[in-house]
Amino acid sequence: DVIDVRGLVEEGLFTYDPGFVSTAACESQITYIDGANGVLLHRGYPIEQLAEKSDYLEVCYLLIHGELPTAEQAEEFRSTVKNHTMIHEQLRNFFNGFRRDAHPMAIMCGVVGALSAFYHDTMDFSDEHHREIAAFRLMAKMPTLAAMCYKYSTGQPFMYPRNDLDYAGNFLHMMFGTPCEPYQVNPVVAKAMDRIFVLHADHEQNASTSTVRLAGSSGANPFACIASGIAALWGPAHGGANEAVLNMLLEIGDESRIPEFIQRAKDKSDPFRLMGFGHRVYKNFDPRAKVMKQTCDDVLKELGCENDPLFRIARELERIALEDPYFVEKKLYPNVDFYSGIILRAVGIPVSMFTVIFAMARTIGWFSHWHEMVSSSYRIGRPRQLYTGHTARDYPSK
Ligand code: ACO
Repeated sequence: DVIDVRGLVEEGLFTYDPGFVSTAACESQITYIDGANGVLLHRGYPIEQLAEKSDYLEVCYLLIHGELPTAEQAEEFRSTVKNHTMIHEQLRNFFNGFRRDAHPMAIMCGVVGALSAFYHDTMDFSDEHHREIAAFRLMAKMPTLAAMCYKYSTGQPFMYPRNDLDYAGNFLHMMFGTPCEPYQVNPVVAKAMDRIFVLHADHEQNASTSTVRLAGSSGANPFACIASGIAALWGPAHGGANEAVLNMLLEIGDESRIPEFIQRAKDKSDPFRLMGFGHRVYKNFDPRAKVMKQTCDDVLKELGCENDPLFRIARELERIALEDPYFVEKKLYPNVDFYSGIILRAVGIPVSMFTVIFAMARTIGWFSHWHEMVSSSYRIGRPRQLYTGHTARDYPSK
C-alpha cells in the first residue's frame, strides 16, 4: 500500500524514516524490483533475458530511451559512443597530481567531476540535445578514464581507445594492452565483462542513484552529479562490497576456516559481516547473483581455473550460510557482488579496480535517472530531520 503524504504535509504530517526503508522519493519508469520474489526488470524486461540476449550498449539505449533499439538504431548508437571515447589531452594532466598508490576510486571522483570543466555546452542541460551528448560522453569516456587509473598506478603508458573493438573488448585493451604488445581479446572474457556491465547497469533508488538525483535536484551539471554517485558507491555497504568480498575470501584462505567466519558474522559484538550477503530489497534471492554465478563458472572454465581455491571457498561459504538458521531467518542471500570479484580476479583485474568497474557500468543508470528527473518538473530534494539536540538556551555569561 502506498500513502501519498504530499497533500498532508501542509496539515502538519511529518514522517520519520531512517535509511528510507519505506519512503519513495520519486516516481520512475526505468527499473522495477520485486524484492520478495527476486524480480528485476529494466523498462519491463527481466534482467535474465537482457543478460542473455542483449549487450551492454543495447541495455544503455533501453535505459535512456525506454525501448530496445532496432538493428539500425543500435548501430548508430554504438558508432556515436565510439566517437566520444577519447578524452581531452589536458585531462591527462590531472592524473599526475595523484600519488601512484592513490585508490582508483579517489581518482575517479576527481576526474569524472572534472569533465564539467571541459564540456561547457552541457552546463545548459535544459536542451534535450545537450543531455544526449552528455550521455554519450559519459558512456564513452568512463572506460577510458577507468583504464587510465589502472595504467597510472602501474606506471605504464596510457593506451588510446581502439574503436574497432566492442565496448568490453576496448576496455580490456586499454587495461592490459601496451604499446609493445597488443592485447588479444578472449571472446569469453569479453562476454563476461559485458555481462558484468549489464548486471550492474541500474538498480533503481539505491544510495548512489539517490545521491545523483539529490545532487541533480539542485540543478548541478550531469558530470558533477555522476561524480557524487561515484563517491556514494565507494562505501563497502554498497559498491565497495565487491572489493570487500574478495578481501574476505582471501582472509578466510581455506575452507576449514569458513565456520569461524560464519560464527563471527552472527556475533553481534563483532562488527564483521559476510560481505556479498544481504540486500535491502531482495529478501529471497538476487536475480543478478544467479546469472553472475553461471558467468563465473564459464570464465573459470575458459581460463582453466575451475579449481581456483577462492571459488571453492565462495561456493562452500554460500552452501553453509544458506543452511544456517541465522542467514535463513534474516533472509540473507548472496548479492550480485558475491561472484563478480572472482570473475574480475580471474581476468587479472586488481581488487582496487573492482568498484571502478561497478561505477563504469552504473554510470548509465545514474544518467538515466538524472535525465528522467530533469526531463519533467522536479523540486529540489530536501529531507527533513528529527531534531534531538538542545532546546534554546542563553549564551553563558563570562
Ligand atoms: N552478515 C551478517 N549479518 C548481516 C549481514 C551480513 N552480510 N547483512 C545483514 N545482516 C544482519 C544485520 O546484522 C541485522 O541483524 P539484526 O536484525 O540482528 O540487527 C539484519 O541482518 C538486517 O541488517 P541491516 O543492516 O539492517 O539491513 P540493511 O537492509 O540496512 O542492509 C546491506 C543491507 C547493507 C546490504 C547489508 O546486508 C550488508 O551490510 N551486507 C554486506 C555488504 C554487502 O554485500 N553490500 C552489497 C549490497 S549490494 C550492492 O550494493 C550492489
